[in-house]
Amino acid sequence: MKVLITREIPERIVEAAKARFDVTFRDEPCVGLTEEEAAVALRDYDAILLTLGDQFSARAFEMAGDIRCKVLANFGVGYNHIDAAAAAAAGVAVTNTPDVLTDATADIGMTLLLATARQAALGDRLVRGGGWKGWGPTQMMGTHVTGKTVGIIGMGRIGQAVAKRCHYGFDMPVIYYNRSAKDAGLPARQVESLATVMAQADFVVVTVPGGAETRHLIDAEALAAMKPEGIFINIARGDVVDEEALIAALAEKRIGAAGLDVYAQEPFVPEALRALDNAVLLPHLGSATLETREAMGQMALDNIIAHAEGRDLPQRVV
Ligand code: DGY
Repeated sequence: MKVLITREIPERIVEAAKARFDVTFRDEPCVGLTEEEAAVALRDYDAILLTLGDQFSARAFEMAGDIRCKVLANFGVGYNHIDAAAAAAAGVAVTNTPDVLTDATADIGMTLLLATARQAALGDRLVRGGGWKGWGPTQMMGTHVTGKTVGIIGMGRIGQAVAKRCHYGFDMPVIYYNRSAKDAGLPARQVESLATVMAQADFVVVTVPGGAETRHLIDAEALAAMKPEGIFINIARGDVVDEEALIAALAEKRIGAAGLDVYAQEPFVPEALRALDNAVLLPHLGSATLETREAMGQMALDNIIAHAEGRDLPQRVV
């Protein structure tokens, strides 16, 4: 079987893939396949281990013509860069990597929550810039975290893992907005509307899946419902939030701060957002631990192996 791996992945998985298949590695750490390159890959390979930023759009499937590929094994849980309907119509199965990245992603949510509340990034810049003049009782006062209310938008695996950390680690009351009720194994109150979570929470953490259904779920109106000192964290997908509305709310100090790991048009981050001191900005680090990335790679590869052996694909989503 001819397999394409579209990005640099952990060495252990490279070796495991080489031992098993005729593999082509794209020598590219961060830049994804264009639609044109995705079309060629669909035509030339039996299976593709791909990831975020590879543009498997409806147009890519259209351009591909005679498609040889049978499996798109996505390295990541979110697969909104693959047009699921086009893949299904072309008879291409899609798999993803749930569970293995839940803890790492929840940890990044907590990193952002604490960093925004305590102005950690700003403090780091102050020290590095040589501008720190000494300790002062009123210097760089942040917001207390322990005991504050966290509101989780999307109580799936990652939302529940954030809830667990907030409840057990920081004694935080947990409220959440989700289509169905979820038992996270801890006291958590489901509230009836998005506006209620936005209004009642001191910290809002967004963990919904990306895609057309959740695009701009957090719009200007939702942001307007937040407390003026409220802190907004996004570890989901950038376009779940109306980025311009968020920038305006931060610039006009209508909300306290934001901690973001994801952006609407990654890797582009608007200058207006980069200029704000009340935003902590990470370069999509949610699952970025060696252990997690190895587990994601192995899971993606295992799905390709299952296909090669004629078995059901364990993490099939399309
Ligand atoms: C995913 O798996 O969807 C993540 O965003 C990658 O960290």
